[in-house]
Amino acid sequence: MSAVEGPRTVSVRAAAKINLHLGVGAARDDGFHPLDTVYQAISLYDDVTLTTAGVPSLSLQTADYIEVGDVPFGPGNIAYQALELVRARTGLPGTERIEVLKSIPVAGGMAGGSADAAAALLAFDRLHAAGLTDDDLLALAAELGSDVPFSLLGGTARGRGRGELVEPLDDRGSWWWVAVPSTTGLSTPEVYRHFDRLFPDALAEPAEPADLLSALASGEPLRLARTLHNDLQAPALDLRPELGALIDRGEGEGALRGLVSGSGPTCIFLCDSLDGAHAVVAGLQGAGHDVVLIANGPVAGAHLLARP
Ligand code: C5P
Repeated sequence: MSAVEGPRTVSVRAAAKINLHLGVGAARDDGFHPLDTVYQAISLYDDVTLTTAGVPSLSLQTADYIEVGDVPFGPGNIAYQALELVRARTGLPGTERIEVLKSIPVAGGMAGGSADAAAALLAFDRLHAAGLTDDDLLALAAELGSDVPFSLLGGTARGRGRGELVEPLDDRGSWWWVAVPSTTGLSTPEVYRHFDRLFPDALAEPAEPADLLSALASGEPLRLARTLHNDLQAPALDLRPELGALIDRGEGEGALRGLVSGSGPTCIFLCDSLDGAHAVVAGLQGAGHDVVLIANGPVAGAHLLARP
């Protein structure tokens, strides 16, 4: 008599990213923009759980500030696409039930989709003992999106190429952030297209994060605040002028610096401490912003969660 194997389950957690520096150069021939960016993973997470199952399925659960209808469903979901890719490359048979628990704002400039893709890749590898190396996973991640390799890596890292070439950076700080998502997302391609319209003479080479690297190594929030930079902020603010008032308000409430996260529309505020972050949250909520989140960084990249 042979033993009947029950379903197996693996859960992986992946973090949101922000860009402390986002230098954008003129569009390349393939339409992507060359980047010189500094990513940081912060403590807002999506969890992806895979369970072996005869019939594939996808289920979504979202934090109360995320409309479940805003998350792509079925084959349009990037976790689903990540599994299609890794299954094709490994040739491993089988199907899974995918459960995604989302706390990272959708279409918010925080790499929520990339986090799900990274988590799905790692979960597949562990569920099937596929034996993929870190380099294998990073290469698959780069095929799925520019930010997906960083979602695997986490911490604080420099990103070059179109953002997919990542290397860890020395970061001595534990930084406190306040994040304000918008109810309506912004399309990343649309923000890049608007960058092209606003800056037809953009240099081919993206701006380097010169002073930011020493600020990170110093661990001093005021120094870091002075060096934060985002070349997509101008196009994002042009598309969503109300974000300018939000940034001013957050800074007025005591944030050291506010800026658009990646391609937006989420705005992030660097604070001097957890207490400072609470004060900014209270101020912004008093000004009518219902959803104001506190996060800290850097945190780990995609990692397995212990079984309950
Ligand atoms: O790589 P990812 O799928 O995240 O990119 C989404 C879109 O954002 C691309 O199709 C492109 O329009 C734009 N993009 C870009 N330059 C980059 C990254 C993204 O133009 N470096």
